[in-house]
Amino acid sequence: MELSGRLKLIAQMVPECNIVCDIGTDHAYIPVYLINNKKCEKAIASDVRLGPIHIAKRNIGEYNLLDSIETRVGDGLDSIKENETDVIIIAGMGGLIIKEILERGKSKAKKARALIIQPMYAIEVVHEWLCDNGFEVYDEELTKEGYKIYDVINAKWTGKIKRKDNLYYHIGEKLFEKKDPLLKTHIENKIRQLDKIINEMENMKQRDSIKRKECIILKEKYKKARELV
Ligand SMILES: C[S@@+](CC[C@H](N)C(=O)[O-])C[C@H]1O[C@@H](n2cnc3c(N)ncnc32)[C@H](O)[C@@H]1O
Repeated sequence: MELSGRLKLIAQMVPECNIVCDIGTDHAYIPVYLINNKKCEKAIASDVRLGPIHIAKRNIGEYNLLDSIETRVGDGLDSIKENETDVIIIAGMGGLIIKEILERGKSKAKKARALIIQPMYAIEVVHEWLCDNGFEVYDEELTKEGYKIYDVINAKWTGKIKRKDNLYYHIGEKLFEKKDPLLKTHIENKIRQLDKIINEMENMKQRDSIKRKECIILKEKYKKARELV
């Protein structure tokens, strides 16, 4: 199986390990790829719904990997035991759900050698949670699929709690440090999205709302950040 774009970057971020766990696995493409490419010995493909697990089992079976990839049904990290897995992947969900999964399964997340996280939106919620709970982002990278840019984070618990400027919750600091080639386009997309929200709020007679003012301040930060890239 070949992966491309978003899924490929997620798989690339996974360090070589013994057991990987893919939460919200859906099709199980990531665990299949990781086992086939010998990045890990075993994998747990877990999902909260039975439908995706049936699809995952079928795909795993097609690649003759039923001995190496176990499927489980469960909410977030409830399906894994403490110390059972080296690497945890949580990808393709909104930032709020990811935060809830991490919060509920915090003790398991703290024990992972790496947390590979890819929020589809509301990444700021995830970045802030990681900082508030002593997780450090060791790597972060952007990838483009069609017109859309996706952000993949590699984090690990260190116990060092940090507060950051909210710019870095919306756009990971590592992306600036690494001078990610997609960063400028990413910031420009974010400015366009914020412009849309700011204008919509004006039309909805929320011209002077606190939320709109916060958006305007954030947009200025994006514009300054764009000049530095
Ligand atoms: C859009 S799919 C993403 C699939 C894959 N991870 C990817 O990145 O392509 C999201 C999956 O997460 C599952 N999901 C949603 N909330 C979940 C939770 N709390 N625990 C486990 N799985 C969850 C859904 O059932 C769905 O299969």
